[in-house]
Amino acid sequence: MNTKVYKKYDVALDNSKYEIIVGKNIIENVGQMLRERTKDNRVMIIIDNFVSKSVLNPLIEIFSQNGFQTFFHLFESGKQNKNFNEAINIYEKLEQNNFARDSTIIAVGGGVIGDLAGFVASTYLRGINLIHIPTTLTAMIDSSLGGKVALNFQLTVNAIGNYYHPIFNLIDIQFLESLPDRDYKAGISEIIKCAIISDKKLFSFLSENPSQILNRNENMLLVAMYGAIEIKFFHVSDDVKEQGKRLKLNYGHTLGHAIETCTGIFEETYRHGEGVALGMVGAAHIARDYFSSDNNEIIDAHEEILKKYDLPICVASKEIGFEREKLIAECLKIILKDKKRKEHMLRFILPLEIGNSAIFNDIPEDYIQKAYNYVIR
Ligand SMILES: NC(=O)c1ccc[n+]([C@@H]2O[C@H](COP(=O)([O-])OP(=O)(O)OC[C@H]3O[C@@H](n4cnc5c(N)ncnc54)[C@H](O)[C@@H]3O)[C@@H](O)[C@H]2O)c1
Repeated sequence: MNTKVYKKYDVALDNSKYEIIVGKNIIENVGQMLRERTKDNRVMIIIDNFVSKSVLNPLIEIFSQNGFQTFFHLFESGKQNKNFNEAINIYEKLEQNNFARDSTIIAVGGGVIGDLAGFVASTYLRGINLIHIPTTLTAMIDSSLGGKVALNFQLTVNAIGNYYHPIFNLIDIQFLESLPDRDYKAGISEIIKCAIISDKKLFSFLSENPSQILNRNENMLLVAMYGAIEIKFFHVSDDVKEQGKRLKLNYGHTLGHAIETCTGIFEETYRHGEGVALGMVGAAHIARDYFSSDNNEIIDAHEEILKKYDLPICVASKEIGFEREKLIAECLKIILKDKKRKEHMLRFILPLEIGNSAIFNDIPEDYIQKAYNYVIR
C-alpha cells in the first residue's frame, strides 16, 4: 500500500511530549513505532465494531511481526456505550492478561472509543501507554487531541474524566473513506466551531468550498483539518486543565450538550457535532442579546455556514417525537445544574464577531431561555 505522510506535529503538553502524524495508509508503521517506545510486549486494541472488520486482523499481524502479544476488545460505538460497564469489561481483560505499567492500549475508533479507551488507560495502574488511531473526522481533529478522556455517567455527559496524553497519535485519513456522511458532517461542525471562535480566514475557506469539502476532496479537507488541529493546540497549549483560553473550544457545547442529553443519550438523536451546531446557533442568539445588537448578522452567519454543510440549525421537536415546551424546560434544568457546578455562574463563550470570541461569566438566565426558544421549535 502507498504510505503517505503529510504532516507531523511535535506536541508538548503537561509533562508529555509526543508526535502526531497525519497521513494516508500510515497505520502499518504503528508496530515499529511502538517497539521503539516500550519493552513490554502486551497490547490491547480497543476497537470500534465497524472499523474492526477491515483493520483488526491487519493490526494484529503488524503487532505480532514486531513481537507483541495482542489482545483486543470490540466495542459498539455510540454515546450510550461510553460508560462504566464498558470500562469495567476492559479493566477485566487487562487484569486477566497481566497488563503492566509499560503495556499499551490502542484506541482505534471515533470519539467514543478514544474517550473510553483513554480513560481506562489513564486509570489502570494509574496510567499505562495509550496510542490514538482516530477513525472519524471528529476524533481526528478534536477528541484525540488535547488529552481529555471521559465516560458519561447517568444524565451527565463526560461526567467522569481525566486528562491523559497518548505516546503518539496516528491520523490516517484513509479511514474517512468509509465514514457515513452524517458522521463526516458532524466532524465538520467542530471545524466550523474552530473557525468561528478564532479564525476568520478558515471560516471564509469553509464558506467558499462546501461542495469540495463535502465531496472529501483530499487537499481541501487537509487544509480544513490542519486549521482545526492547529486552533485546538493553540488553545490547549499552556492551558490543558481549562482555566482560560482552552474554554473557548467549548463554544456551543453547553447549550448543545443539554440538547443532546434531553433528546436521548441512550437512544441517540443528535451526533455530538450536530449538538454543537445547535448550541452554536443558540450561543449566537445569546451574543446578539448580550451585546444589544439590533441586527441578526452573527446568527445569520452561523445559520448560513451550517446550512451549507447540511448541519441542523434548529430542533424540530415534533418531528423527533418531543413536546417543545417540555424539551426547553428540561434543557434549562440541565443548564442550571451546570451553573451550580460552576460557582453559580452561567459561563458562556460568545462570538464577538466571526473569528473572534471571549468568555463571559454573567449571562442572564432569560437570555438562555430565549436562545432555546429560538433553537427549539
Ligand atoms: N475528548 C474530547 O476532547 C472530545 C471532543 C469532542 C468529542 N468528544 C466525544 O466524542 C464522541 C463523539 O465522537 P464521534 O462523533 O467520533 O462518535 P463515535 O465514536 O460514536 O463514532 C460515530 C460513528 O462512526 C462509526 N465509525 C467510526 N469510524 C468509522 C469509519 N472509519 N468508517 C465508518 N464508520 C465509522 C462508529 O461505529 C459510530 O457509529 C462523544 O462522546 C463526545 O463527547 C470528545
